[in-house]
Amino acid sequence: MPESEQASPSPSVHTDPTLHAGADLLDRPVVMVGLMGAGKTSIGRRLAAQLSMPFVDADAEIEAAAGCTIAEIFERHGEAAFRDGERRVIARLLEGPPQVIATGGGAYMDAATRALVSERAIALWLRADLDTLTARTSRRSNRPLLKDGNPRATLDRLMQERYPVYAEADIVVDSQDCPPDETTQAVLKALLDYLDRQQDTAVNAAGTLP
Ligand code: S3P
Repeated sequence: MPESEQASPSPSVHTDPTLHAGADLLDRPVVMVGLMGAGKTSIGRRLAAQLSMPFVDADAEIEAAAGCTIAEIFERHGEAAFRDGERRVIARLLEGPPQVIATGGGAYMDAATRALVSERAIALWLRADLDTLTARTSRRSNRPLLKDGNPRATLDRLMQERYPVYAEADIVVDSQDCPPDETTQAVLKALLDYLDRQQDTAVNAAGTLP
C-alpha cells in the first residue's frame, strides 16, 4: 500500500510530542471509576498503552489473591468479605508505581478507598447511560449483583446511589456507545487537560509566594 493510503495511527505518546510532554506530568496512578459495563477495563487498558504505562485490573488481582472468581467469593464468603479484599488490594495497588488501575464498580463507594485514591491518584469516572450499561452487561453473566432480578432495574438503582459519589472523581468522561478508541482519545484529552490545569495552578501558587 502506498504510504499516503496507509491509515494514520491514532496519536499516542510515541507519535505526538504534545501528548508526551503532558504524559510526563503524570506521576500518579490513574484510577478508572464507573458502573459495571462503563468500559473501565477496556478503556483503561487502551489508555495505559497510549501513555506507555502499566495496566492492572483490580478485580483480576482480587481473583488471583483469592484463587477463585468474584462470583465464587460472593457465593462462599458474601459481599462484605469481597469488599474487604477489594479495599486491601486497591490500597496495595496504590502503593505501586504510576499505572492505570481499573476498579470494580463498587470500589470507589468505599470511603477509605476514596480517600486513598484522592490522596495518591487521579480518579477518572467513565460515565455511561442506562441503555449503554444494560446492553454491555447483558453480554456476560459473571456479575453477582446482576444475577438476580431485572439487571436494568438494578443498574438504574445503582446509578441513583452511586453517580453522586462517582461525581467526586477528578475527571469525568462520557462513555457512550462508540468505538473504544474514540472514547480512549476523549479520556486521554481530558486527562492531559486536567494535568495542564494542575500545572497552571501550581505555577500560579508559586508565583503568589512572598
Ligand atoms: C461490582 C462490580 C464488578 C465486581 C463485582 C461488584 C459492583 O466489577 O467488582 O461484581 O459492585 O459494581 P465491574 O464494574 O468491573 O464489572
